[in-house]
Amino acid sequence: MDGRDLVRAVKDIGSERGRRAWRAAWRHRRADAVGLRRGAERARVPGLLTGTEPRPGGGVLRFARSELLVRVTVGGAVFWGWDGAVPTPSYAVVGDGPEPDPRAVLEPDTGGGWRVVSERVTVAVSRHGAVEVRTPGGTVLRREAPPRWWEPVPAALAGEAAVGAGSASGGTHPTANAAGAGAGGLGAGRGPGGRWVQRSEVAADARFFGLGGRAAGPRLREGAYRLWNTDPKGGFGPGVDPLYLTMPVQMVVADAGTHLVFHDNSWDGRVVLREGEEGAGSGADRLGSSELRMEGGPLRCWVLVGTPARVLQGWSGLTGAAAVPPEWALGYQHARWGFGSAAEVRRVVEGYASRGLALSAVHLDIDHYDGHRVFTVDEAAFPDLPGLAGELREQGVRLVSIVDPAVKAGDAVHVSGLAVGAEGAFVRDARGEEVRGEVWPGECAYPDFTDPAVREWWGGLYEERLAQGFAGFWHDMNEPVSFAPFGDATLPRSARHAMDGAGGDHREGHNVYALGMARAGWEGLVRLRPAERPFLFSRSGWAGMQRYGGTWSGDVETSWEGLRASLALVLGLGLCGVPYSGPDVGGFGGSPSPELYVRWLQLGAYLPLFRTHSAIWAGRREPWEFGPEVARQAAEVMAERERLRPYFVTLAHLARRTGAPYVRPLWWGATEDRRLRDCEDAFLLGDALLVAPVLECGADRRAVRLPRGRWYDTATGAAYEGPGQILLDAPQGRIPVLARAGSLLPVRSAGGGGGGVALEAWAPARGRTGGGVVIRDPGPGFEAGSVERYTVRWAGDEVVVETEAGDSVEGVTVRGL
Ligand code: NOJ
Repeated sequence: MDGRDLVRAVKDIGSERGRRAWRAAWRHRRADAVGLRRGAERARVPGLLTGTEPRPGGGVLRFARSELLVRVTVGGAVFWGWDGAVPTPSYAVVGDGPEPDPRAVLEPDTGGGWRVVSERVTVAVSRHGAVEVRTPGGTVLRREAPPRWWEPVPAALAGEAAVGAGSASGGTHPTANAAGAGAGGLGAGRGPGGRWVQRSEVAADARFFGLGGRAAGPRLREGAYRLWNTDPKGGFGPGVDPLYLTMPVQMVVADAGTHLVFHDNSWDGRVVLREGEEGAGSGADRLGSSELRMEGGPLRCWVLVGTPARVLQGWSGLTGAAAVPPEWALGYQHARWGFGSAAEVRRVVEGYASRGLALSAVHLDIDHYDGHRVFTVDEAAFPDLPGLAGELREQGVRLVSIVDPAVKAGDAVHVSGLAVGAEGAFVRDARGEEVRGEVWPGECAYPDFTDPAVREWWGGLYEERLAQGFAGFWHDMNEPVSFAPFGDATLPRSARHAMDGAGGDHREGHNVYALGMARAGWEGLVRLRPAERPFLFSRSGWAGMQRYGGTWSGDVETSWEGLRASLALVLGLGLCGVPYSGPDVGGFGGSPSPELYVRWLQLGAYLPLFRTHSAIWAGRREPWEFGPEVARQAAEVMAERERLRPYFVTLAHLARRTGAPYVRPLWWGATEDRRLRDCEDAFLLGDALLVAPVLECGADRRAVRLPRGRWYDTATGAAYEGPGQILLDAPQGRIPVLARAGSLLPVRSAGGGGGGVALEAWAPARGRTGGGVVIRDPGPGFEAGSVERYTVRWAGDEVVVETEAGDSVEGVTVRGL
């Protein structure tokens, strides 16, 4: 028990819930003590290369004590897997994964190693099992040392087992060359079940990003980052790690190139990062390193190489295209834990309407449930929810419902779940007993979302939500959480999961629990309401979750650090392929100062999910609660968000088609500019805008680093040339936003003409042309929407906008002249 645990424990013991949480935590600890015994272990490294066998896209390399499959796939993604690990089945990779590239073949390399050469990348394997990823020009982007495993020693041998790195070269592992190969279910390619470590080196100038949602990002500095989805309890600031949504996905940016590496393994693990240092021309560079230590599971990995845009396009091909939120989910939304009643919801909605502030949705938290039980309604506080939903709908406001996974024991949902399959829908322990945890409604059971039958049953439960008039869904507490005064506030690690037929325990199932819940919700909603694409966002998740929707910050602390962490999360998640997210504007707990609130609202207005939310004990978050000046400043930035809504629609569709997140780091198109890699306080919104939020208390101007090219200050029209740094005024009412010269973006038309969309172009620099893409909202269904491409160019002294066919477009507002 650490200090944090101790504080929690003392606090909790006073209440009935606290006492139940104590009991649950003890039960979980006991279950693990019985269900998970770690015996003797033996270390292993691959040993020397003994032979090779060509396979499509590469081949198998045999070592004395392991084997390695290397495969280059069509499109350029590279896979390698040790000990018989194969790409699929996988929770992240869609379908069977990409086809092997028939042109890529295994051939001898220098020093007795082998390599696979393809158009975009070369993978070279040394005779000791080190793997290098090289650019076509031969520069090394990443070098993985031979891995090392620690495996349980069969009981019969335990007496003679040697534990530790010292014995790494001893013994022939019984499962080498055989483990998992060809087996069915998600257990395929899982390897022999030991811990392993993989150390990699990258260039001295490389910077790390990603690993899911990290408060300390977006640039991940030296330190250890855990891969275990965790509710940090009580909110978080930049020092707290891990958070709700982790994933073993790193984007590494260096002079020599950008690559994304994904270790497809859902077990608990740790990534230890160390940035390199350059020896200032002395040749004594210290390389950067990334060491991955996993508690078990397969050692299989994907690498994608190219520009950030190319890499994320490949990633979205591999793990699935991002869901496009409905158009209304790109507008401003208001959530609150503790609305308390329908009357309060009406009062807040009326507050927005009477001030002319656009409001797209209201989110109801657990207090609208009956006794905090999922899929119920407190009929006394919300007597006619469908009526309320209908009434709000007429005002253009949707209702969104929170959905928690834990089901109160004995409740009707629990009873219905008990009838699923032979054993019921809920997670069981190693002895076959249902695992119980403590959450808001009291003692709860947990659906096993790694079971297809359970997902189907759960998806059907959204029918009740749709009948109540809800239009969108907000998955919460799905790390999953069981309140605990000590230890891990989740299920016991020994709890059993179906793992889609492969069988496994919570050590493997934990990180994909929320992903399964998202899938269940998404697929259920598609079945129930096939003409509308669902709106779903989830606190926890894993690689590939973008297929089912987005996420949000969770309980970000109400502080300037929390504001900065909000941006870090959105940027980091976007680089892991999850483009739709946003923070609790104003922070989750406490009361932001008027200044902090406005700055947060200004940032939120340029992020995909623009939503204020707060705890039941927190102060108000309605813009008018902070005085008339803030109300005016808030109105201004909310109106600008409305004006930009068609641009957000375009970005949402582009994210689906290309994998590019709406919110991108400044280095997106200019990875060679090292200063941009270190710039964490500004971002690109699509291709057209550069947003420089104020993240410091008391600031009334700020420095803005510009990528190359010309940029216009959208407030003053002043032009600046990048690369470089400028200083812009940023009084409290203003968030600096710059537009790229030559860009074109769709905005809401003032008179509502043109289908509500008008075009705005920014003059290219003289002698240059520009352009942009527009995708209009194709409606609530699954239509892809058509892509309109425009060119922006000078014609004499005029800037003209033309369609792809060369027709000139009238009525475009041209700025920057
Ligand atoms: C935790 C969530 O992060 C928060 O947003 C929500 O308000 C509470 N659970 C209560 O449901």
